[in-house]
Amino acid sequence: MELARRRGFIWPTSECYGAVAGFIDYGPLGAMMKRRIENIWRDFYVIQEGYYEIECPTIAQEAVFIASGHVAGFADKMCQCPHCREYLRADHVAEGGGIRNASTMKNEELSAVLASCKCLACEEVLGTVEVFQFNLMFRTMIGPGSQRTGYLRPETAQGMFVDFARLLRFYRDKLPFGAVQIGKSYRNEISPRQGMIRLREFTQAEAEIFVHPDEKNRHPSFRRYAEYRMPLLTSDQQLACGEAVSLSMREAVDKGVIANEYVAYYVALTHELMIAIGIKPERLRFRQHLPDELAHYANDCWDAEIFSQRFGWVETVGIADRTDYDLNAHAKQSGIPMTVFIQYKEPRKVPRRRIIPNMGVLGKQYRDKAKAIFAALATATPDSSGADVIVDGETIHIPPDLFEIRDEIVEVRGEEIVPHVIEPSYGIDRMCYAVLEQAYDEDEADGEKRIVMRFSPKVAPVQVAVFPLMSRDGLDTIAQEIAGKLQKKGILAEYDDSGAIGRRYRRQDEIGTPFAITVDYETKETQTVTVRDRDSMKQVRVFVQKVPEIVGALVEGSLRFAELE
Ligand code: GAP
Repeated sequence: MELARRRGFIWPTSECYGAVAGFIDYGPLGAMMKRRIENIWRDFYVIQEGYYEIECPTIAQEAVFIASGHVAGFADKMCQCPHCREYLRADHVAEGGGIRNASTMKNEELSAVLASCKCLACEEVLGTVEVFQFNLMFRTMIGPGSQRTGYLRPETAQGMFVDFARLLRFYRDKLPFGAVQIGKSYRNEISPRQGMIRLREFTQAEAEIFVHPDEKNRHPSFRRYAEYRMPLLTSDQQLACGEAVSLSMREAVDKGVIANEYVAYYVALTHELMIAIGIKPERLRFRQHLPDELAHYANDCWDAEIFSQRFGWVETVGIADRTDYDLNAHAKQSGIPMTVFIQYKEPRKVPRRRIIPNMGVLGKQYRDKAKAIFAALATATPDSSGADVIVDGETIHIPPDLFEIRDEIVEVRGEEIVPHVIEPSYGIDRMCYAVLEQAYDEDEADGEKRIVMRFSPKVAPVQVAVFPLMSRDGLDTIAQEIAGKLQKKGILAEYDDSGAIGRRYRRQDEIGTPFAITVDYETKETQTVTVRDRDSMKQVRVFVQKVPEIVGALVEGSLRFAELE
């Protein structure tokens, strides 16, 4: 983190006024690295999967979050230290005191176990404390005066749900389809003490994939990942304190370990994506939620967890089958149906019973109630003695001679269904933290300690450095021309002519620049430059003309440095 601050990756926010916990600034290199990680995410979800990106406001009106359940239930358990008055997350304090399953305990249970735990701030034993719910949403007012309550969104997901009807039309009324969003989410975390891991403003990248509930085991591209194998920490293994089991996605679905092909597909895709940004496979695991950990709407959920030397296993992505919970909730709250018409391959003949009221007699006999009785009869279940209907809370018996029952066979073309939602939800800041932590390395160069950030070339903020050996004799002009050509190709090339060449290499190593081009006196004679590889520190000579093509291929990963040697 010291290096991240010093080199302009991550800064405390509004530092000159005293930083506020739970907020960070991405400095020039951090912002570039984050953008590259987001774009790799887009390569997978937008380009590969074909799920278009949308962009919704970060503030939404209250109705959205009443429907989603956030107003009533998006809360953490909190307590206050009686000694230092600090507000604390009750389950975190209990876990710090070695209590297991604290996150699933009720308030009273937690209160009892907290008595012997130490405050995370002042380290005094807490004693008697009350545990209460604290809603994590930031509340605000939309417009002047207190006209309309709004909330900063705690997840990007709701935007995709409330736009469902428009998305459905955009995708020409066909399932499956998906929409994605990358953007800021806000949670008023109780006591964020884990730097970039727990923020009050953070970036999520979420995909909401709408599928037919009967087709969750028919992902159209499942073959891509059917044989993809990885260790899975299933809920059964966790309950038995066992090890992760290595399974292919096909096996995991067939054995019922993962609920369906859709969830398995995104578990594997997430694994591939994490490797693409530079996460080491041995520090990545997929853990299934335990039954008492599952959100009330979820059918199955897997977390991608990344091992951090500072924080242990950190949940970084959640992949959930959210069933039809969200669409039903918004349909109920808004009064707008959120269904898809599924046309049958062939129209089906189905029996239908129609109850046809004798309007003339009913009208005269029941006068102002007649209209309501007509309507109620349509869904009544009559027998030989007539039909009972309820109008304004009153049960009215309608004799059989006041209506006719007609049994018919009708042709039905299809049915309205509520799609299920599969949701892979990524925390971009946690991915950035993991990339930074895993990239950090120390070794030796020229008999001295070298700090090197071993970023994958795909996420390194500066992709290539260009140095003239000396800033004279025309070497600087050649180097500037090379840098210009690289920049024209969309490659971030940093030109640097200050200081000894060794120090310039060290500086680029520290910010993780994977390659460096050096223009020397031989360049003028042979039209060649050296390309230096950050990790091996080896150098090869290549023709100046070939530099843009070679560096482009090295950065995108289609060429390995070893192939140049
Ligand atoms: N729509 C589902 C959802 O929001 P979540 O598990 O609450 O699920 C998804 O969040 C991801 O967002 C997490 O796995 C994590 O990476 C990230 N995230 C959640 N809260 C965060 C926080 N306070 N700071 C940083 N990242 C956070």
